[in-house]
Amino acid sequence: MAGRYRTPSPLAGEGWGGGSTGLARLGAKPALHLSPARGERGAKLTLPGAWIEPPYLRFCGDPMTAPVLSVRDLTVEFVTRRATLRALDKISFDIARGEVLGVVGESGAGKSVTGSAIIGLIDPPGRIAGGQVLLSGERVDNLPPDAMRKVRGKRIGMIFQDPLTSLNPLYRVGEQLIETIQTHTSMNAADARKRAIALLDEVGIPAPERRIDGYPHEFSGGMRQRVVIALALCAEPEVIIADEPTTALDVSVQAQIIALIKRLCKERGTSVMLVTHDMGVIAETADRVAVMYAGRIAEIGPVREVVKEPLHPYARGLMGAIPSLEGDAERLVQIPGSMPRLSAIPPGCAFNPRCAQAFARCHVERPELLSVGDRKVACHLYDEPGSMGGKAEIAA
Ligand SMILES: Nc1ncnc2c1ncn2[C@@H]1O[C@H](COP(=O)(O)OP(=O)(O)OP(=O)(O)O)[C@@H](O)[C@H]1O
Ligand code: SF4
Ligand SMILES: [Mg+2]
Repeated sequence: MAGRYRTPSPLAGEGWGGGSTGLARLGAKPALHLSPARGERGAKLTLPGAWIEPPYLRFCGDPMTAPVLSVRDLTVEFVTRRATLRALDKISFDIARGEVLGVVGESGAGKSVTGSAIIGLIDPPGRIAGGQVLLSGERVDNLPPDAMRKVRGKRIGMIFQDPLTSLNPLYRVGEQLIETIQTHTSMNAADARKRAIALLDEVGIPAPERRIDGYPHEFSGGMRQRVVIALALCAEPEVIIADEPTTALDVSVQAQIIALIKRLCKERGTSVMLVTHDMGVIAETADRVAVMYAGRIAEIGPVREVVKEPLHPYARGLMGAIPSLEGDAERLVQIPGSMPRLSAIPPGCAFNPRCAQAFARCHVERPELLSVGDRKVACHLYDEPGSMGGKAEIAA
């Protein structure tokens, strides 16, 4: 399977498992999110560039125009006895309000570590070794654990592969929803229950007035994931990190769940980082897509452009694995070789051992992320004299 990217059809991908980070751990206590009242954060803003209270939150731009999520040169390392392994190597991207950023790449590319770092769940021996994560212009990567716990759930919602990791089996779904709503709002119990029923209705749970008193095991996998989506939306977060939210579900319900996430987030203006192995889902759902390889971003740009005419040789291999509507079998190409282990990332371009277009420079010099039109691409092909007619510029 290594190096092979495939999906049977748009919005009907089988996907495959393999989530290897601790993201799911946090889902175990969704009903226990603690948070200040909504609006408290904004009330503390003073002048642009000024410190806000508490002082570890630094305002970094105009909140009206700043991206909702901004990741800057984020670097994550795992320190082992033998070596320091770099799982993320200076990755940068923004997600605008209401935008869905798809994140793709083979197993081990660093997709889940990116999500974990954003929500502050990189535990030792892992560490954020550099860079910043900004939420609506405020740094959150350097928050103390208690403050970060308040950000999770309230300002960043999470949807993981297995809905059961996000729901406490001992509590009725209504109890979990109501507790979360009351944690994040000043609603009394009766209003919170009404809100929970409305949310269950919104995510497509039939007879929500009755099902609200059911336990998680009384719901099917698809219905449980709908409950998790309701839970993630309870506090009206600014951004949702969805890490392979449909991989554990039957193929028949995957498309419904993805469509639901997309619809609800568009309606609310919630930004989404959607991690998936399913290129069909990306093509149907995302506004932009980031292709990751060996802890770096290989290409990022508008989904139509990247899917239709990928620039990076690795992205070309991934997109070549999507069956066309005409069933063009020749398009189904396989990328030779496999993703390098973190301990054996080659010098220069990490993709060079698998790249048919590699040349001398690729073996010694790491390619920078260059702006090519609306896209950014990390490949020397776009930085060679005359290669793009001088269009490529180093990305900010
Ligand atoms: N706790 C950890 N300790 C050491 N290495 C880790 C740890 N968590 C992740 N890694 C490594 O970081 C790299 C990126 O892992 P990550 O889970 O982000 O990959 P992924 O792109 O999400 O893959 P998948 O598609 O399989 O979920 C991998 O090489 C993985 O082995
Ligand atoms: S930098 Fe070189 S090795 Fe890397 S993708 Fe581009 S051509 Fe291939
Ligand atoms: Mg993963």
